[in-house]
Amino acid sequence: METAEGEACKRERGVLVIKIAIIGANGQLGSDLVRAFKDTGHEIIPLTHTDIDVTDLKSSREVLKKLAPEAVLNCAAYVRVDDAEDFAQMAFAINALGARNVALVSSELSSVLVYISTDYVFDGRKKQPYTEDDVPNPLNAYGNSKLAGEYFVRNTLEKHYIIRSSSLFGAAGASGKGGNFIETMIKKAQSQEEISVVDDMIMSPTYTKDAADMIKNLLAKELPFGIYHVSNSGRCSWYEFAREIFSITGMDANLSPAKTAALKSRAKRPMFSPLVSIRFKKYGLEMKSWEDALRNYLTEKGYLK
Ligand SMILES: NC(=O)c1ccc[n+]([C@@H]2O[C@H](COP(=O)([O-])OP(=O)(O)OC[C@H]3O[C@@H](n4cnc5c(N)ncnc54)[C@H](OP(=O)(O)O)[C@@H]3O)[C@@H](O)[C@H]2O)c1
Repeated sequence: METAEGEACKRERGVLVIKIAIIGANGQLGSDLVRAFKDTGHEIIPLTHTDIDVTDLKSSREVLKKLAPEAVLNCAAYVRVDDAEDFAQMAFAINALGARNVALVSSELSSVLVYISTDYVFDGRKKQPYTEDDVPNPLNAYGNSKLAGEYFVRNTLEKHYIIRSSSLFGAAGASGKGGNFIETMIKKAQSQEEISVVDDMIMSPTYTKDAADMIKNLLAKELPFGIYHVSNSGRCSWYEFAREIFSITGMDANLSPAKTAALKSRAKRPMFSPLVSIRFKKYGLEMKSWEDALRNYLTEKGYLK
């Protein structure tokens, strides 16, 4: 494989070492991708928002062309779902046009592009887990901006992977959301707050460490380009997720179920958005259950002995 500058890729112990740029590298998923790829021996270039602004094509081109990566993992995103209703322009600038900018430059460099998308491209009316073959129909500005990003990627370069994931939790916490659901629940229980969580919205909670490992496998195995669903297996409501957190940790919590309609959120959300992958299954790759992933997270964060 040749880089854009014509420099031959290195081989170490017979294995091709490629340069992988990770955009949004200090985010929740981005930081676990940096960790996952560190083990591979590839040259990893973590790029934070201060290194690259995906909304600016000219500077993104300058940054990426200088680095000439063989693969670009784009985790940059505007993830505040309710705020996206009021700041749709900003959500589209990052999630859609930003995705297009990164796709254009990746195409110019002949790099493989990985774009991270979401279960929120679906409307939740299916009542069965969504596969890669289901037709998206987003309900909110965030979902529309991510779907627009998907289309830009698909229409800009062939060498792409679109990874749809859902309800992420990771050690870094979503920088755009100021943490993750598990830590929020634990903090509320520790301060003995009353905790009310919706029991009518169903999803697949997903550990960013597992998602990152799956993306690493996808690239290592050079699976066919296209859309892949990456989420821990199984499904639950947010209330059941919270209940499992307290059950595993043995924490006392004043937890009660609530209804989504009562929250009067600005953004409409799909009420049922678990994901399942028929494509990974074909290649013998499956993700562990969300319960096992949660237990691993709690162990790694030191909540379990
Ligand atoms: N969080 C979820 O529950 C969830 C569910 C499904 C799918 N996803 C998708 O998964 C991906 C990762 O989400 P996450 O939870 O890891 O989010 P995150 O922690 O908020 O990470 C997003 C990253 O993007 C960076 N960023 C924002 N605007 C940028 C710009 N204009 N140029 C370059 N970088 C920019 C942020 O940096 P700064 O913070 O420094 O601005 C941050 O590092 C996203 O594509 C998201 O849509 C997330």
